[in-house]
Amino acid sequence: MQAVRLHPAAPPSPSYSPSNPAPSTALHLDQIPIPHPTKPGQLLIRIKATTIIRDMLTWPETYTHPYTTLGNDFAGTVVEVFPGGESALKVGDEVFGMVHADRPSTWAEYAIVLESEVAVKPRTLEWEGAAALPLSGMTAFEALFEQAGLSLPDWGPVSGVSDVKRQGEVLITGAAGAVGIYLVQLAASAGLRVVAASSSNARNDEFLRELGAHEAVEYSGLEGVKDRFDIIIDTVGGETLARCWGYVKEDGSLISVDSSSFNFVKEHRKQGIARDGVKALFFIIEGSSRALRVLAELVDRGLLKSFVAETYPIERVQEAYDHANGRYTGRGKVILTL
Ligand SMILES: NC(=O)c1ccc[n+]([C@@H]2O[C@H](COP(=O)([O-])OP(=O)(O)OC[C@H]3O[C@@H](n4cnc5c(N)ncnc54)[C@H](OP(=O)(O)O)[C@@H]3O)[C@@H](O)[C@H]2O)c1
Repeated sequence: MQAVRLHPAAPPSPSYSPSNPAPSTALHLDQIPIPHPTKPGQLLIRIKATTIIRDMLTWPETYTHPYTTLGNDFAGTVVEVFPGGESALKVGDEVFGMVHADRPSTWAEYAIVLESEVAVKPRTLEWEGAAALPLSGMTAFEALFEQAGLSLPDWGPVSGVSDVKRQGEVLITGAAGAVGIYLVQLAASAGLRVVAASSSNARNDEFLRELGAHEAVEYSGLEGVKDRFDIIIDTVGGETLARCWGYVKEDGSLISVDSSSFNFVKEHRKQGIARDGVKALFFIIEGSSRALRVLAELVDRGLLKSFVAETYPIERVQEAYDHANGRYTGRGKVILTL
């Protein structure tokens, strides 16, 4: 099968690592054997679309073994189920999902995934739109409904527990980014009043309001805000996150997913800017078939949109990686198709 693999640095160049990341030119399309399920719960998927995530070539997981195949998000068809298992899925099912960060593998024609990482693809999305959803959409889902503790509204059979009712006011930073666009949509449909912050109203105001934001602001527009938000979900980190301590209510929640902010609560305590009553945390996405099912249902009911910024065939992976890592104008994810 065809698979993109990360080739090692040619001697005498120093080996690639998170501190000496490989350039996109180290990504090559190779022929390798098709894997097969070896344990109950494993499925073989014929991948149709997968995503590029910014900075993947700086992640430690990328360098755990030589000739890694990257890729976590996927949409495709089940082609093999571990024999004798009790799988709810069968050969021919069209699915989407995300393989765990420590087993990247989806930049390939075929990949082994766990049943717990998969759900039936939203029927109203093409492969590309379905692949764009899992990582970013589930991060937003978990931030709101698991970490911030919002109750899941009655969106339909797979989700519902209570009617949509006002659950307070939320500030989302990086609201026009890949995670932000799902945070805005999910928070608005969950009945929150949504304030969507980005670096440019000229670029993002109309778009964010279309997603359901009640207010779109630039970061400078938050100056002077004090104790206002019940929940803040930050996707940006840095100074923006540091200022959020002042914007959140004394008993509110301040949650960051920005990768470089994994230690922000401790750091900000040291700096004396953290506030004791605020529930503050950073988390890393777990992913689940339940979250995927809720997202799929929301998409099919027209309550959630998936965004594809650009699509490249797998042969153009180097160009696609550079595109995804630049400041592109399209919304959502850069997709590889197979
Ligand atoms: N903890 C987790 O489990 C988890 C899961 C997923 C993602 N993440 C992290 O969450 C953060 C946001 O992810 P994302 O996928 O939403 O990011 P993204 O789409 O790449 O961008 C987020 C925001 O950054 C700004 N931006 C755009 N191009 C940029 C560039 N070239 N360089 C720097 N900033 C740029 C944009 O804001 P403006 O338009 O306002 O300028 C954009 O809205 C990242 O740190 C990512 O690693 C963490």
